[in-house]
Amino acid sequence: MSSTLKSLRALSDPTRLRIVALLERGELSVNELQEITRLGQSRISTHLGLLADCALVQSRREGKRTFYKLASQAAGATGEFTQLAIRGAKELPEHGGDQINLRRVLARRQEQAQVFFNQVAGRFDRVYGPGRSWQAFGHLLLRILPPLVVADLGAGEGLLSELLARRCKKVIAVDNSEKIVAFGAAKARKNGIKNLEFRQGDLQSPPIEANSVDLVILSQALHHAEVPAEAITAAHKLLRGGGQILILDLLKHNFDKARELYGDRWPGFAESDLHHWLEKAGFKKIEVSIVAAEDQPPHFQTMLAGAEK
Ligand SMILES: C[S@@+](CC[C@H](N)C(=O)[O-])C[C@H]1O[C@@H](n2cnc3c(N)ncnc32)[C@H](O)[C@@H]1O
Repeated sequence: MSSTLKSLRALSDPTRLRIVALLERGELSVNELQEITRLGQSRISTHLGLLADCALVQSRREGKRTFYKLASQAAGATGEFTQLAIRGAKELPEHGGDQINLRRVLARRQEQAQVFFNQVAGRFDRVYGPGRSWQAFGHLLLRILPPLVVADLGAGEGLLSELLARRCKKVIAVDNSEKIVAFGAAKARKNGIKNLEFRQGDLQSPPIEANSVDLVILSQALHHAEVPAEAITAAHKLLRGGGQILILDLLKHNFDKARELYGDRWPGFAESDLHHWLEKAGFKKIEVSIVAAEDQPPHFQTMLAGAEK
């Protein structure tokens, strides 16, 4: 039988016209169609099968449920048949009731979707949410970065440098540990990152040309510097006019073991220390704030300081 005849036959039944008209508003599950039309599941499934056979509707499985919608390429003859079916359905006595039930079902669907969020409102940002992580947010925020030249001072093995290099023009990672530099450089090579260069050197006199970078980052590095104020002054020299410095460091703490456990030179800093050193080095637009606090003892807190040359 030709596809035209098949479609005409499929639409010769009032129930199938009702179904087509209901699917005009969007996808519906078999259960929802059953609830709207008050027909039994096997009858609904038979009608849907016939409509699917002549490509007037298409289905999608989600777990145990099957959803139906009008065929997406409802162009040409299929599109015309669908429009005729919808017009015809409006003349059926069940049409008014179907539309009222459809609105009810869609409103309930919407309410169900909101139940979870209504329950967690006010603490949503503190509860687990599938796929929500600072790592994911970090990747998203990186996309906003313009193509900068960055100096990552006290870079370690380059966790942050590698991320930045994906978006930045060039990243120079400086660290004073020969082994860390060798390891970081080898890792960057292995990962095929060509715009990340590791250099061995000190925070207080980084081996980078003056006025050559757009952004200096000191992430958990400043508390290792012998004279932190000197490291900030050195960072100022590297920056072009208008360039930025960003410092992540620990707020002053009493956890004395940090020296022996993590090789720390200083037990973090006061917010006013960072502000003072940045100002003294000649930075403008200085902002210092606490951006994170750890749940576990000794409850380290992280400061973020930013300023402009
Ligand atoms: C805690 S790690 C931070 C690594 C990285 N910035 C991060 O946030 O993951 C500190 C790094 O600073 C380096 N470092 C310590 N003192 C330094 C100095 N005076 N000059 C340059 N690097 C130094 C260490 O070798 C280490 O790799």
